[in-house]
Amino acid sequence: MNRDAPLVLGIETSCDETGIGIVRGRELLANVIASSMDEHARYGGVVPEVAARAHLEALRPALTEAVATAGITLDELDAVAVTSGPGLSGALMVGVGAAKALALSLNKPLYAVNHLVGHVGADVLGDEGPLEYPTIALLVSGGHTSLLLVRDLTSDVELLGETIDDAAGEAFDKVARILGLPYPGGPHIDRVAADGDPKAIRFPRGLTLPKDMEKHRYDFSFSGLKTAVARWVEVRRDAGEEIPIADVAASFREAVIDVLTSKAIAACKDYGVPRLLLGGGVVANARLREVAQQRATSAGVELRIPAFSLCTDNGAMIAALASELIMEGAEPSSLNFGADSTLPVTDIHVH
Ligand code: KG4
Ligand code: ZN
Repeated sequence: MNRDAPLVLGIETSCDETGIGIVRGRELLANVIASSMDEHARYGGVVPEVAARAHLEALRPALTEAVATAGITLDELDAVAVTSGPGLSGALMVGVGAAKALALSLNKPLYAVNHLVGHVGADVLGDEGPLEYPTIALLVSGGHTSLLLVRDLTSDVELLGETIDDAAGEAFDKVARILGLPYPGGPHIDRVAADGDPKAIRFPRGLTLPKDMEKHRYDFSFSGLKTAVARWVEVRRDAGEEIPIADVAASFREAVIDVLTSKAIAACKDYGVPRLLLGGGVVANARLREVAQQRATSAGVELRIPAFSLCTDNGAMIAALASELIMEGAEPSSLNFGADSTLPVTDIHVH
């Protein structure tokens, strides 16, 4: 196997994106993403069974397209990589099964890797230069809200905190629903919020009170915020008042972003880490990027945000992480591993 710049194909199926990515070392050759988001729209959230079935249907065409885009043949691969967790069990199983079949039939080594660490791995594919250590990573999507301390991408990742209830993207989706906006809610809240006043309503900032900060300094909670928005809207609807949707959206968005960025910067300060990396679909939010940049600059922290196509779930980040592992001499996984919906972040790759 070429350990200097291995040619790796990555498979990602942990949630509603079927991702096939191909990298050579730190060079991105293909990043094909097929999303089943539209199929979940009428349910207002990702339905695991629907997602799993969609992966089954999307995998093969995505694989064919990725190989064609990269201009390679499967025989040339040095390794196959797959997300084995965390994520939705049924969805993960589709990717794990496909990856095992592919590795076995091609007689190639297989690397089962951690989805969350994969989000961090996406950064090495950018043109901002090598990822420096240590770095704090804030991952925000419809499925996760996690704060990581990354001392080394391939060997030392620590979970500092995560959401104790809803993920940040999930909160956007639920509040959008309350306001009568379509799924996925993030982009719609964002659009509506553009005309609103973020200071119009002071919504609660979850887990930021001194008593919460003792135990949950780096944890997040968005369920109380969602309930507060629901109550605020309900009271006015019942009174027959018109709902100032733009102000509600802007004030809600500000509350989420305030908590996300203040906790991430606090982690940078506490651990003396002058770097912050963002990842996950919520990074599409321009206001999040803006506030993160302002706060990072005033704290003397360098902010890194991969290209958006590498922020949402994708196979390239999985291939990139496996490529880093291979370059570090990591052994491939045995074929005995299974999908692990709660794989801890410390298990960067499964042996
Ligand atoms: O990473 P992603 O594409 O998929 C998974 O969660 O698996 O993230 C999707 C999430 C959704 O919850 C969506 O509402 C949120 O990201 N999102 C946004 C924006 N665009 C997408 N949230 C806030 N602002 C946005 N502009
Ligand atoms: Zn993800």
